[in-house]
Amino acid sequence: MKTTISLSIPAELETESLVAVVLDHAEPTPTEKDKKPQLKVATTDPAVQSVAADLLASGEVAGKPFETNLLHNPALLKAKRLLLVSGGSAKKFSSYDLRRIAGAAVRALKPRGIRSFAFVAPASIPAEEAVRAIVEGAYVGNFDPDYYRSDRKDQKIDAITIVASGDKTALERAASEAQVIGESQNFTRDLVNEPSNRMTPTILAERAKKMSAEVGLKCEVYGAEKIKELKMGAFWSVAQGSDEPPALIVMRYEPPGAPEKPVLGLVGKGITFDTGGISIKPADGMEKMKYDMAGGATMIGAMRAIALLKPKVKVIGIVCATENMPSGKAQKPGDVQIAMSGKSIEIINTDAEGRLVLADGLYYARQLGCTHLVDAATLTGAVVVALGYNNAGIFANDDDMYNRFHSANAKAGEKMWRMPLDDEYKEHIRSSIADIVNSGGRWGGAITAAMFLKEFAEDTPWIHLDIAGTAWTEEQKPWIAKGPSGIALRSLVEFVKSFAG
Ligand code: BES
Ligand code: MN
Ligand code: ZN
Repeated sequence: MKTTISLSIPAELETESLVAVVLDHAEPTPTEKDKKPQLKVATTDPAVQSVAADLLASGEVAGKPFETNLLHNPALLKAKRLLLVSGGSAKKFSSYDLRRIAGAAVRALKPRGIRSFAFVAPASIPAEEAVRAIVEGAYVGNFDPDYYRSDRKDQKIDAITIVASGDKTALERAASEAQVIGESQNFTRDLVNEPSNRMTPTILAERAKKMSAEVGLKCEVYGAEKIKELKMGAFWSVAQGSDEPPALIVMRYEPPGAPEKPVLGLVGKGITFDTGGISIKPADGMEKMKYDMAGGATMIGAMRAIALLKPKVKVIGIVCATENMPSGKAQKPGDVQIAMSGKSIEIINTDAEGRLVLADGLYYARQLGCTHLVDAATLTGAVVVALGYNNAGIFANDDDMYNRFHSANAKAGEKMWRMPLDDEYKEHIRSSIADIVNSGGRWGGAITAAMFLKEFAEDTPWIHLDIAGTAWTEEQKPWIAKGPSGIALRSLVEFVKSFAG
């Protein structure tokens, strides 16, 4: 998608469609019942205001978020159409909402055969922030997952103009950075969308290699021999059950002029299919477990964005990719495995495999010199019970690390919520035969899974993102298709940038 910044007056733009945001300026009332919306187009251009005036005064528009109205051949405008997208309350309107409104505009226009449009940035949001939000949101809206449908239309917006005012060079820089992030997020979504027969660990590794060559990252891929040689007993215990060879993917970003430290480690769970293993999952819904490599795909996409945005900080991306299968070679409940760190693990449930591969991934990252760690994983069903589909879970062993991630997260406009990680939870992962068990049981399952990982991050500042409920959008939304969401990539990139000053 081509992105252009325009400083001209919206009315002067010749475009397939002008898009403007409608905001409700009515003050909240105690009952909200007698509240009449006071709708205004968020633009200083009187021509756009005037074109929308009759419609907004008619009472036909409620101004609820994502409501759309399309006007053809609007008098006073050079645009062929004017699309009005409501953004709800003017008071509450933020770049988080704007991102989604931009996605909704894309999703409203592309099925009409429209391939380019101009979006009027609302003046209430600082211009650079608005440009980023609009471009990122437009990319999110432009992705559709129906790859294998014979009637796939593959309709896409090819070009977007953002109409804003300010320093053009700065706005153009914001747009091109947002473009890198949007493309990388969709690259991740592409990987996650593929079913397991088309996204084996080997294929995932090939995609990482190809991407790395394109953007100038070093990328090494190791197989079963190296995993065993490194004594990654936890990773191997999952991989041993599958006929598909596992892959340990290591991507390095070492920009010239970056300080020796910090070295950031991004570790992703790359289970290309999770049957549960011998502790097999029920058939109902098992097809969804093709997205169990979303954490890994997020790290590959984040490394792509980082390589293109070039912050001056070293980053290593690690993905532990394997299937989790039942077979004659598969590990069994009760087995004891020795992780790369030397810790012994009693396997209670072979379906708690994500933490096993990440245990070795996190430890290996530290061996490679990482001073700060972030992992992302579709780790537990329990995080969905705790937070639903709207927030990812964040766990941290260090408050400074959390605070830094939290600011990055807010900037990126992704919803995440911090979960506790007190030492008291550790008793749930005690074993009578080994150092720890791999399953803490039902209660607080997202927390006990994180406690398990903490054993391998040890004293290295570390963040764990449980994206099981957020990596896959369960239903069609105005701003995003049902399917892979690409959650966490934007926050990760902001987080990495925060180390580069
Ligand atoms: N991949 C699953 C978690 C998951 C569940 C991801 C739903 C996406 C949606 C993970 O490997 C798993 O099976 N976790 C178990 C852990 C349990 C056995 C301790 C779970 O959550 O049930
Ligand atoms: Mn599992
Ligand atoms: Zn899993």
